[in-house]
Amino acid sequence: MNALKRLECVDAGTEHCPCYLAEIGECLTCSHLQGKDFCDCNWRGVCIYQEYAWNRYKIRDRRITYVSDVISVVPVCDIAFIMELSVNSTLSRELSQPGSYIFVRPEGMLAYFDTPISVMDSDPGKNSVKIAVQILGPKTKVLNRDLKKVVIRGPYRNGLFGLKYIKSLKDQKALVILRGIAQAPGVLLIKKLAQQHNDITVIVDPGKIEKDIVSDIINPYCSRIYNVDLLSFPGQQLLRNLISDQDLRLVYSGGSDEQHLNVLNYIDVYNPKVMLAVSNNQTLCCGEGICGSCGVVLEGTVVKTCKVQVDPRKLVERGVLNG
Ligand code: FES
Repeated sequence: MNALKRLECVDAGTEHCPCYLAEIGECLTCSHLQGKDFCDCNWRGVCIYQEYAWNRYKIRDRRITYVSDVISVVPVCDIAFIMELSVNSTLSRELSQPGSYIFVRPEGMLAYFDTPISVMDSDPGKNSVKIAVQILGPKTKVLNRDLKKVVIRGPYRNGLFGLKYIKSLKDQKALVILRGIAQAPGVLLIKKLAQQHNDITVIVDPGKIEKDIVSDIINPYCSRIYNVDLLSFPGQQLLRNLISDQDLRLVYSGGSDEQHLNVLNYIDVYNPKVMLAVSNNQTLCCGEGICGSCGVVLEGTVVKTCKVQVDPRKLVERGVLNG
């Protein structure tokens, strides 16, 4: 069976579906829009082909690229800073979901400089979003230039894997592990889990950015927050003890692929029934399923992780996250 058939496009059924991929016969979900003569999908929402036909065989609204004011820039350390950006009310609302990210570049620079950044927080009342940027290369370096305006494109949604577990968790216990710059997307995730009345424990490790940037924001939503170095012996002991809690239903790992594996190893040994969600650490370039930079090979098929929700366990089991 084709692996793609079982994978879920995060945009399926949204206002951004059908997308460019439908137009070129590469839809991730619809077999008709893959050029086949028969219906062979596992999508349970409104028929994507029908939507495409109703829309006169054209794609839905493209994601908008527009200029945004930089409201504030707060330095975190030498290699990281937090930016608050103005957005319209619709985008602010759309970007309040866990896993949301946008592409950002300085105004006046070419689209080559578009870089995907997770949304840290969204304030629909103020029509603004916050992003935390770690300077890693040319694209992030140019964002650290006392900018007044940036160009943003969004909303994008596949910033983490395991979204269905997060959305379905209600009145349960969850453990959220955040390290380094990956602390930032933890905020929207924690707000969502709290909205669904979950009991949330958080581990925050400043990692390379050397600062806890989230505890002040997430404090009202969590039962417990531990600040530890996850690479230390006490950090590993704490991780193991918290994962061993048999009442736990979900663990989210926000950090490196090595951290995901570390967490999954403890889950497999001490609490194999717990659900796992992880940050999406693949290299994203277009976000539209076109360039292929985010591709990972799964069951012999290249899976575009900017669009496809993949079970983190399966990825790890197949050694994909191991590179
Ligand atoms: S980022 Fe271009 S295909 Fe996924």
